[in-house]
Amino acid sequence: MDRIISLKQAFSQVFGDGDGLTVARAPGRVNLIGEHTDYNDGFVFPMAINMDIVIGGRKRPDQLVRIHSIDYQRTVEFSLAQPITNDDEESWSNYPRGVLWAMQEAGVHLSGMELAFFGTIPQGSGLSSSAALEVATAVLVQRLIGSTIPRPELVLLCQKAENDFVGMKCGIMDQFISVLGQKDHALFVDCRTLAYERIPLELGDYRILVCHSGVKHSLVDSEYNRRRQECETGVAILAAKYPAVKALRDADLAMLSACQDRMDPVVYERCHHVITENARVLKSIKALKAGDLVTFGQLLNQSHASLRDDYEVSCPEVDLLVELAQESHGVLGARITGGGFGGCTVNLIHVDAVEAFKERVVPAYREKTGLEAQVYVSTAANGAEILN
Ligand code: GLA
Repeated sequence: MDRIISLKQAFSQVFGDGDGLTVARAPGRVNLIGEHTDYNDGFVFPMAINMDIVIGGRKRPDQLVRIHSIDYQRTVEFSLAQPITNDDEESWSNYPRGVLWAMQEAGVHLSGMELAFFGTIPQGSGLSSSAALEVATAVLVQRLIGSTIPRPELVLLCQKAENDFVGMKCGIMDQFISVLGQKDHALFVDCRTLAYERIPLELGDYRILVCHSGVKHSLVDSEYNRRRQECETGVAILAAKYPAVKALRDADLAMLSACQDRMDPVVYERCHHVITENARVLKSIKALKAGDLVTFGQLLNQSHASLRDDYEVSCPEVDLLVELAQESHGVLGARITGGGFGGCTVNLIHVDAVEAFKERVVPAYREKTGLEAQVYVSTAANGAEILN
């Protein structure tokens, strides 16, 4: 409740008063396992976290859109009478702009509006603050203008905003979980069919601990898109021999090794990661359903090794953080989470070992890197919703 009040106060300061405000929120996410599989038609297993974006807004009678970032103390303004374009100076605004653009592309008639938002998801941490901002904007604007795009389509609309307006060729995972997350559940998604299953996260005495390395990643640049291309190259080689292979989802390790001599070693390794990672997601779901947390933890560790060695999306700092965690008492598994090149680790840890993690892992990491790691223990949160 006090979040709505502080939002209203900040809104009034910029836009004169906080009357008639509708408020929405959308969460960030931590991906438990299934990394760099979404754009390969594969499987992912994220959960929504307690950190989110809160956005408030109301319609205007004209064509003017004003968007205010409470955290940055910046406001942008543009008219819907002109096509919506990117703003390189205020790049934070490209996420809500992109959503409004994608809504127009979907045939939605927009009106002018005033929006203000703040967030608690650390940016550049691999916890999907951008997807949360897109989804929060979409859910709020839907309500403001009375449009009724069903939720699965809203996910695709937000992804389109990021792919085609912001220019980051992300998969579907982040927007999906931000829209469809559910308290105490993680979401198993088949990224080919978009079929999903909410799996109760029954961890007993164990917790999901997210640890931010303090290394900010930047995904909009080349490395992420390059990985996608390497996967596509792999698919083309596999498909030449096995026409049924439309995506790495359709290949197995036997097929991959039959094509190895025609593949650049780097492409081979990228494919190796994706194929084994998809299998690890399926095994994780099975282990969790059987209450076998030890196996789930081992799969997390294997996922990290694969992301570090085959997919090469980790970095020395995050590798160190994972190693320290894996050696730490009460930790069943640890790995890098999200797009990579910095950001966060996800750890499966006994509730009694959380303090020891803070007392040992964090200082040991500081000593070797000079960086201050941030620790968050998160339960699985709900997806996007209107708050008032
Ligand atoms: C980023 C992208 C997601 C996904 C992950 C890697 O978070 O936005 O679509 O590809 O990287 O698993």
